[in-house]
Amino acid sequence: MYNFGLPENFKIALTFNDVILLPGWTEVEPREIDLSTYVDKNHKLNIPFVSSPMDTVTEADLAIALAREGGLGVLHRNCSVEEQVEMARKVKRAEAFVIRDVVTITPDKRVEDARRIMEELNIHGLPVVSSGKLVGLVTSRDIRYSEPNLRVSKVMTPRERLIVTHPGVTIDEAKKILQKHKIEKLPLVDDKDRLIGLITYKDLELKGKYPNAVRDENGRLLVAAAISPFDLERAKKLSKYVDILVTDVAHFHNKNVFKATKKIIKSVDSDVIVGNLGTREAVLDAVSDIEDVSGLRVGIGSGSICTTGIVTRVAAPTLFAVLESVSALKELGAFGRIPIIADGGIKNSGDIAVALAAGASAVMMGNLFAGTRESPGRLIAIEGRYYKEYYGMGSARARAKRMALDRYSYPSKEIEEGIEGWVPYRGTVSDLVKELSAGLKAAMGYVGAKNIGELWVKSRFAIILPTGFYEIRPHDIVTPTQHLPRSGLL
Ligand code: XMP
Repeated sequence: MYNFGLPENFKIALTFNDVILLPGWTEVEPREIDLSTYVDKNHKLNIPFVSSPMDTVTEADLAIALAREGGLGVLHRNCSVEEQVEMARKVKRAEAFVIRDVVTITPDKRVEDARRIMEELNIHGLPVVSSGKLVGLVTSRDIRYSEPNLRVSKVMTPRERLIVTHPGVTIDEAKKILQKHKIEKLPLVDDKDRLIGLITYKDLELKGKYPNAVRDENGRLLVAAAISPFDLERAKKLSKYVDILVTDVAHFHNKNVFKATKKIIKSVDSDVIVGNLGTREAVLDAVSDIEDVSGLRVGIGSGSICTTGIVTRVAAPTLFAVLESVSALKELGAFGRIPIIADGGIKNSGDIAVALAAGASAVMMGNLFAGTRESPGRLIAIEGRYYKEYYGMGSARARAKRMALDRYSYPSKEIEEGIEGWVPYRGTVSDLVKELSAGLKAAMGYVGAKNIGELWVKSRFAIILPTGFYEIRPHDIVTPTQHLPRSGLL
């Protein structure tokens, strides 16, 4: 490419707004397009959308909603290990063909204990277990009008009246048993009457309700969690529950970070996605030096709440980082085998199309998901419009919790690298996913790509100047909302 006469090592860092995709010969209609993709070496998603590990973006509710749509939530780490583990367990409990991590109660506990557990975990029944053996089942119906002080053993359905089955039961057999006996819960017990799992009618029903959901081999929703490379204990605990761990540091290309990550990869069963990376050299080093990197999280300084680029004037904008990563992976013969996640700066479906066309397998979004109903942030109204709060993990607000400070390098622990504010309310995760998927499919239709692999091959780019960027947006027209402060995202 023409380099404006600049020295060889002086790169041009393109950002989303600098480029357009060129229309190509097409034989595909948007409805025929397949958005499925690999987010890391071993996990396939049905849509290429991942949510950022930020405490105004991804907790259990958003991760559940996104996995049901076919994407992946990465649980934030700005909390205690126990809180993060509980979020992961909540996602894994949300649905499953067989619940393995069954919440149980003992017969000597009180009705009020059963009620509290059910309310806290939003579940409607508890198998009653004594010395490892199933002795009954207590449901929300059993305790609705019972004295809070009564023992669970007095209100439960006892073992001799319970319908149970064996652990090897198939989905169809389980469905038939539930229907035949008109029951909602089917405990699985071994030949010694030990509780091995639980099948619920609700879970079997949900499977039909969310046909695009991404699930593990036990039918539970996929979920990932952010970790610090320096917190081996957290990584080990989380790896028992989540499918993927994602390192969460602003600058992964660092000697100590590499060393600590190698130790984590060796000690956990889950896949590990590493990041954030921004340059070709960083990707070459990470993939060659660290064994078993499962995916790359790339982009530094493009996030809508980032001030790293201003505070330090160091950045690897997301599109640039993707192009650099593709170049490194191609050199290593690993492009297409180690997926790239484009993280930060995604404002709309057009940016998603550009990130994927450049070679990413998925995009990670904070700003857009922060605006959904399922994100943890507060909903507020300003002049009749709804907004949700959103702040950077390097902002004063996030740093006050002091749990994710090591995201940033030592000197920056002293300064803020993020800001706080509000983003427009965008409805449910499902609404947002539909809107972004429709835009992305339309882009792929113009390019002539029926899946993401074809998009990588068929896409052609052109650079557009700021003056031209003005022309490809709505312009020279007055709109009814123009007097309102613009979000800057549309
Ligand atoms: P968007 O554009 O979706 O980007 O808001 C989300 C991504 O931004 C990163 N992130 C930060 N980067 N300072 C930074 O420099 C921060 O305070 C900060 N908080 C989040 C992160 O990669 C996220 O996925």
